[in-house]
Amino acid sequence: MKEFASLTDEEVKTLANTGGLPAEVADHMIENVVGGYTYPLGIAMNFRVNGKDYLVPFALEEPSVVAAASNAAKMARVKGGFTVTNTGPIMIGQIQVVNVPKPDTAKAKLLSRKDDLLKKANEQDPMLVSLGGGAKDLTVKKLSTLKGPMVIVELIVNTGDAMGANAVNTMAEALTPMVEEITGGRVLLRIISNLADRRLVKATAVFDKETIGGEDVVDGIMYAYAFADVDPYRCATHNKGIMNGVVAVGIACGQDIRALEAGAHSYASRSGHYKPLTTWEKNRDGDLVGTLEMPMAVGLVGGAAKTHPTARANIKVLGVKTAIELAEVMGAVGLAQNFAALRALASEGIQRGHMKLHSRNIAISAGATGGLIDMVARRMIEEKRVRFDRAKELVAEFSNEKKQ
Ligand code: MEV
Repeated sequence: MKEFASLTDEEVKTLANTGGLPAEVADHMIENVVGGYTYPLGIAMNFRVNGKDYLVPFALEEPSVVAAASNAAKMARVKGGFTVTNTGPIMIGQIQVVNVPKPDTAKAKLLSRKDDLLKKANEQDPMLVSLGGGAKDLTVKKLSTLKGPMVIVELIVNTGDAMGANAVNTMAEALTPMVEEITGGRVLLRIISNLADRRLVKATAVFDKETIGGEDVVDGIMYAYAFADVDPYRCATHNKGIMNGVVAVGIACGQDIRALEAGAHSYASRSGHYKPLTTWEKNRDGDLVGTLEMPMAVGLVGGAAKTHPTARANIKVLGVKTAIELAEVMGAVGLAQNFAALRALASEGIQRGHMKLHSRNIAISAGATGGLIDMVARRMIEEKRVRFDRAKELVAEFSNEKKQ
């Protein structure tokens, strides 16, 4: 690899560094492991969720996100913080059946054998069942597709403290012979659905109008929301801001963030129109009320949440005891992040705060180290020229001054 990509010894050392993840653990997590990749880890402050205080670990590369979340959470505290509810850790496993001779009859037969099918599914995971989880229900739908009619069996599984992909996929695969025998068709795909619309969190918070900057800010956020509600171009960015926080906590806590993204955006599109994951309204006192509703398929047992030492330590910092609690905190974070973004966008714009932090990154990439980082960053902000070429000039200038 070193030869192929003409890597220097320094670059090889950088890639090989697995940080807080022992190389041996990394090697067992994925294939063809050559090293590790480290994100900055920041702690978002001030979060009060369902009456409990949390320090929330964020792993991400983007400046401003941790500061924005902390600031939003501080403002939310004035009216008691975030209230979050959930629909339980319920995932859906799909079994696709093709070449079914009589789809409607097959559907009825499958439903009449529901108890047997659930029993078979639950035999796959006695541990989950003993903890109160397991396959709880089964539904059947008929789809008209490019390849003709298909029967889809959906297994509804309470996955407890696990994200649940492994449990659900194992159950779905185990049902193959029975489903084929009942339907006379051929089972093809057996896989979890990431549109986790039975595993939702709903977070709300009231933001005191004076605390957040007055009536204009409240109205500004309402206008921002109204824009996202009708325009998918804006809505994509609105929801991206929510995911800035959700994904950062997800990475810090060893979650499958691709599943979180897939769930979020498919849920946002469930009406056939792509919609915001949050809603914003004004209450009778003129305060701003935000609500976020989205799937949150996270787990504490299995996966990187258990194997990655940094994820384990972060979960300890966060202090969550169940997957549901983790999901609820992440819902609060998503709402906080959206509030912070809309507030900034509807007032001074995001670039002022963003550029302050961004300027330090640019200074570093232009070669500034130590005290020079802040000197270069500050000068670029004063000059309103936060750019790489200017950072290079300033690094050279300040370094020369130092030498003289
Ligand atoms: C930037 O990462 C996120 C925002 O663009 C979100 C938004 O526009 O709502 C600021």
